[in-house]
Amino acid sequence: MPWNPEQYLAFGDLRLRPALELMARIPTQEPQRIADLGCGPGHITALLAERWPTAEVTGIDQSRPMLDRAAADFPVLSWVEADLAAWRPAEPQDLIFSNAALHWLDDHPRLFRDLVAHLAPGGTLAVQMPNNFAAPSHRCAYAAAAAGPWSERLAPLLRPEPLLAPQDYYALLAPLCGQLEIWQTEYLQVIDGENPVADWTRTSLLVPLLEALPLAWQAEFEAEYRARVAAAYPKTDDGRTLFPFRRLFMIARR
Ligand SMILES: C[S@@+](CC[C@H](N)C(=O)[O-])C[C@H]1O[C@@H](n2cnc3c(N)ncnc32)[C@H](O)[C@@H]1O
Repeated sequence: MPWNPEQYLAFGDLRLRPALELMARIPTQEPQRIADLGCGPGHITALLAERWPTAEVTGIDQSRPMLDRAAADFPVLSWVEADLAAWRPAEPQDLIFSNAALHWLDDHPRLFRDLVAHLAPGGTLAVQMPNNFAAPSHRCAYAAAAAGPWSERLAPLLRPEPLLAPQDYYALLAPLCGQLEIWQTEYLQVIDGENPVADWTRTSLLVPLLEALPLAWQAEFEAEYRARVAAAYPKTDDGRTLFPFRRLFMIARR
């Protein structure tokens, strides 16, 4: 199952809020060049272009379906298909923005050093990443992946936690940046549906796992996952589901 823009946008409000909170803290006044890394369906890239209408704004992603959706909805912006692990901008950027994408990449010390090196002097790196890897939503995926005939196929895809501790990002970025702000927020998300946490993760964490399985196993693995998640997130008295979700934010100015 590849990235699916329609399903991803289903929890639009809850996924948009951290991007807006990140944008609100960006100090850069008049960026000329802006890159949105892991832009997905492009709706946040479009908000960057709205806030800085004179800037040249490019969304970068490796998913063709996501970029097709972005280009259809926002044809005036630039969309580039690339793997962020190998991305090198042609020109230094005044703002490198990334919402909910860099946790898909490994080796953060190298990644973040490279990103700062791609900034123009005075440029800003603004990043938000989910930091919820120890939550039941994730632990259930790892447990379900180990609990069936698909375990060998999925084992290489079960990545160790990709994020560093906040203080380790500080140690990495402080010597490279004039200004640095790092914070974490845990949102107590209230969501609706029969098994809404499983619906949420099937459009993010589960994407590469489902993609690696033949169709017959996809359904079985997902059923195994959904049963575990439903038990881990029981409904509240009002029939809704609480899904606590922690996110790490960073603004680094070169
Ligand atoms: C959770 S979505 C976030 C989309 C958008 N930034 C947002 O906040 O709505 C993560 C995106 O990162 C992209 N992505 C993941 N790993 C990537 C990589 N190595 N190179 C480029 N894009 C990647 C995925 O294709 C997906 O569109």
